[in-house]
Amino acid sequence: ADKAHTRNFSIIAHIDHGKSTLADRLIQLCGVVSERDFQDQMLDSLYLERERGITIKSQAITLPYTAADGEEYELNLIDTPGHVDFSYEVSRALASAEGVLLVVDASQGVEAQTLANLYMALEHDLEVVPVINKIDLISADVPEARRQISDELGLDGDEAVAVSAKTGENVPAVLEAVVRLLPAPTGDPAAPLQALIFDAQYDPYRGTVIFVRVMQGTLRQGQTIHFMHGGTDYRVEEVGVMQVKRIAKKELRAGQVGYVVAGVKTVADTNIGDTITDAERPAAEPLPGFREAKPVVFSSIYPVATDDYPDLADALEKLKLNDASLIYQKDSSQALGFGFRCGFLGLLHLEVVQERLEREFGLSLILTTPSVRYNIFLHDGTQLEIENPAYYPDPAGIDYCEEPFVRASILMPERYIGAVMPLCLDRRGENTNLNYPNPGRVELSVDLPLAEVIYDFYDKLKTVTQGYGSFDYEMIGYRRSDLVRLDILVNGEKVDALSMLVHSEKARPRALHAVNKLKDTIPRQQFKIAIQGAIGSKIIARSTVNAYRKDVTSKCYGGDVSRKRKLLEKQKAGKKRMKLVGNVPIPQKAFLAVLQSD
Ligand code: GTP
Repeated sequence: ADKAHTRNFSIIAHIDHGKSTLADRLIQLCGVVSERDFQDQMLDSLYLERERGITIKSQAITLPYTAADGEEYELNLIDTPGHVDFSYEVSRALASAEGVLLVVDASQGVEAQTLANLYMALEHDLEVVPVINKIDLISADVPEARRQISDELGLDGDEAVAVSAKTGENVPAVLEAVVRLLPAPTGDPAAPLQALIFDAQYDPYRGTVIFVRVMQGTLRQGQTIHFMHGGTDYRVEEVGVMQVKRIAKKELRAGQVGYVVAGVKTVADTNIGDTITDAERPAAEPLPGFREAKPVVFSSIYPVATDDYPDLADALEKLKLNDASLIYQKDSSQALGFGFRCGFLGLLHLEVVQERLEREFGLSLILTTPSVRYNIFLHDGTQLEIENPAYYPDPAGIDYCEEPFVRASILMPERYIGAVMPLCLDRRGENTNLNYPNPGRVELSVDLPLAEVIYDFYDKLKTVTQGYGSFDYEMIGYRRSDLVRLDILVNGEKVDALSMLVHSEKARPRALHAVNKLKDTIPRQQFKIAIQGAIGSKIIARSTVNAYRKDVTSKCYGGDVSRKRKLLEKQKAGKKRMKLVGNVPIPQKAFLAVLQSD
């Protein structure tokens, strides 16, 4: 299609407002998939995403559409991940589009992420078309949704297309709005090539499939391309568009969205946000906005059974093929043996990786307390970046520390503010600000340490607001912090896997939590076990597991040798799932219990 007949757009929405359902409906309407093999939530291909209802990897799909004016259009729907952990990927997807559909649930109205998403779209200079969804619900209030779209978002509420993605009612009007209201792309197919990478996926047969938006020039088969940030060259084997399946084309011209296969081995060899140019006739500059995806949450992963280490290594390697933002390196712990120190984009990313390792690869794992990355400034002028408690330097040498902060936006019905405010203050929140976007609702803006957010903030928020609070955050940089390393000792031996870096104010409650959880989960032995929380040599919390005298075999009165042996075998099998610290066996569930907050 020529540029005038091309539209590139994304759908953005607060979670559960129906983004994926609407996308499915649009795909179906354009006849790209037959009714028969139509699957719900076409774009969420990973089973995990479908279960969680979160789109993790963005993709694109090209929809042929004959508009009411009789003209043929090529509509490129670019899917965006729906969670803050993946906000950089969202930003690159949006940079590939000219416009967005902003979905608002007619029964919920505007929510925190609706606003956050709108701001992001406006930052990219995108045309925004509001869509009111779920008009089939009895609780739908379309006039109120229109009012909120006008008053709170500053868009034209009367222009919003009101639909039910579920029943399909009025959905064709959305496609007409895309053609009528969104601008056509610009760009010159004869100019030097600039194509923006907004996603990449691993295909076991073809290597990495790279998703691009061609901004200038033309991308064609046989061309030698150059990654302007990555610095590598490849030969293009195939270009084309996605219509659920890959459809090969001769070329992709300025304004088009599609895929490139060029013998790139792993997803890690590409960077989302990088610019592809022609190696022989390169563009003068890469496209703006490139940023390396940086992990912000760290944790070590160990197999429960030490023999599973090679399997864990293998599984991580496989995951990494498709997930460039997952980073890991070998790690070892006295208590847990060999494992890997991993970096994640956020807590959700960590959970997704953990779940995939356990479910797809059948591994049973122990994860250490998630940590953020701290800046540590020493008296001698050196600066360290530390996320692993094992590398925390001698406190005597430390001048001061800094920790990362986020600015959180919490939207909730007014009645919950009395419960949310103390929670924020307890989690060391600063600069609280209240906003009343409409009657009955409050928007609280607060700066929080990222470490507190990843501990249990979100769970607690959901509890105190009974699920009505929505939460969104962005990183705002580092602030000074009073940091200590908390160690946990079992009979005087430090359990390195349980050490954590915490704010000094939180050291005692976290220490108490840990020693009590361990007390409840470490089985009694024939001797007394002292469990202590310590900062350096100072003990700040302790608990005791009392001795247990009875011999297991004493249950079997008399001389039934085979029963005795069975019992001892059973005891031995149980021990396999335990980690020995000194002479104290610690079960997997003890490690997990320490991680869980109450
Ligand atoms: P993520 O992709 O997880 O960010 O969420 P989403 O915004 O895509 O929401 P999704 O499409 O998964 O829809 C969320 C829920 O709303 C699902 O249970 C849908 O079946 C339901 N839903 C979507 N559209 C409609 C609608 O028009 N009417 C009704 N009644 N339910 C809808």
